[in-house]
Amino acid sequence: MQREPEAAHGAPGIGPAAPQGAIPPPPQGAISPPPYYQPQGDEVALFEQCHERKLAVMLKGPTGCGKTRFVEFMAWKLGRPLVTVSCHDDLTTSDLVGRFLIEGGNTVWQDGPLTRAVRSGAICYLDEVVEARQDTVVVLHPLTDHRRILPIDKTGETIEAAPGFQLVISYNPGYQRMLKDLKPSTRQRFVGFDFDFPRPEREMAIVAHEGGVAQALAHELVTLAGRLRQLHDRGLAEVPSTRLLVAAARLIASGIHPHQACYAAIVAPLSDDGALTGAMDDLIRASFI
Ligand SMILES: Nc1ncnc2c1ncn2[C@@H]1O[C@H](COP(=O)(O)OP(=O)(O)OP(=O)(O)O)[C@@H](O)[C@H]1O
Ligand SMILES: [Mg+2]
Repeated sequence: MQREPEAAHGAPGIGPAAPQGAIPPPPQGAISPPPYYQPQGDEVALFEQCHERKLAVMLKGPTGCGKTRFVEFMAWKLGRPLVTVSCHDDLTTSDLVGRFLIEGGNTVWQDGPLTRAVRSGAICYLDEVVEARQDTVVVLHPLTDHRRILPIDKTGETIEAAPGFQLVISYNPGYQRMLKDLKPSTRQRFVGFDFDFPRPEREMAIVAHEGGVAQALAHELVTLAGRLRQLHDRGLAEVPSTRLLVAAARLIASGIHPHQACYAAIVAPLSDDGALTGAMDDLIRASFI
C-alpha cells in the first residue's frame, strides 16, 4: 500500500473532475452519504480491482484500525449492499447458509446471511472469521474459486453467485494466534490486505472528524497514543487503537476533563495490571496538565 490517495470524504477533488490519484466520484444513483474513510495507502484501488475480478479479500490487522469502516466505505463506493456476519465459535453452517423453520405447521426454508448475499450480489463481510469453526468456514470455499457457487445440502440447491457478490473476511492476527488460525487451504483463496494503525497525520484527521474535536486536541491524542504504543515493549499486550482515541476524543468533546477521559477510554480498557496502568497514567498526565 504505497500510494497516498485523497481522503475519501469531504476532501477536495471529489467530484466529476477529480484529479488523478483522487478517489473518483460516487456511483450513479448513490444517495446515502459516504461513510467517512481515511485511506492508509492504495487499498481502495486494490479492492476495486479485486471486486472487478471477482477475487475474495482477507483484511488483517489489529482491533480498531479501520477494517470494518473500509468495507463499509467500499460497499458504498461500489454501490453494493453489505451483509455483515460477526463470527464466533458456535457459528454453524446453518447460521450462515440457512435452515428449515416450522411456521404455522408448515416447514419453510429461510436463507441465512451468506445465502442472501450470494443471491442478491451483496458484499458479504465475515468479521473475525478465525473464531468460526473449520467445518463452517469450508462452506466458503466453492464461492471463492471460478465456480462461485453455494451448494445448499439441506435443500439440494446449488446457487450461482449473482454478479457483484464478493466475500470479504477479516481477522486480527495477534489475537489467540496460537489457538486458532485459518487453514492454508482457506487462506490461499483470498487476496490479503495488511492493515495497521494509520500514520499520525491520518490518525489525527480521523480523531478530529470522528471525535468531534479540534485538530490541536487530535494532535495531542495521537501523540499520546504514539507514546502509549511504545509500552508494547514493556509488556502492554494490546496497545491503544484508533477506536479508543476516538472514544477519548468524544468524551473530551462532551466536556469530560482530558485526563479522566483518557483514563476511562484508553487506559482502563487496555489493562488491569497496576504497573502498566500507572505507567499509562503518567504519560497521560505528562500530556494533559
Ligand atoms: N481509516 C479510517 N477512516 C475513518 N475512520 C477510522 C479509520 N480507522 C479507524 N477509524 C475509526 O475507528 C473506529 C474503529 O474502526 P473499525 O470499526 O473499522 O475497526 P476494525 O479494524 O474493524 O476493528 P475490529 O477488528 O475490532 O472489528 C471507526 O468507527 C472509526 O471511527
Ligand atoms: Mg471490525
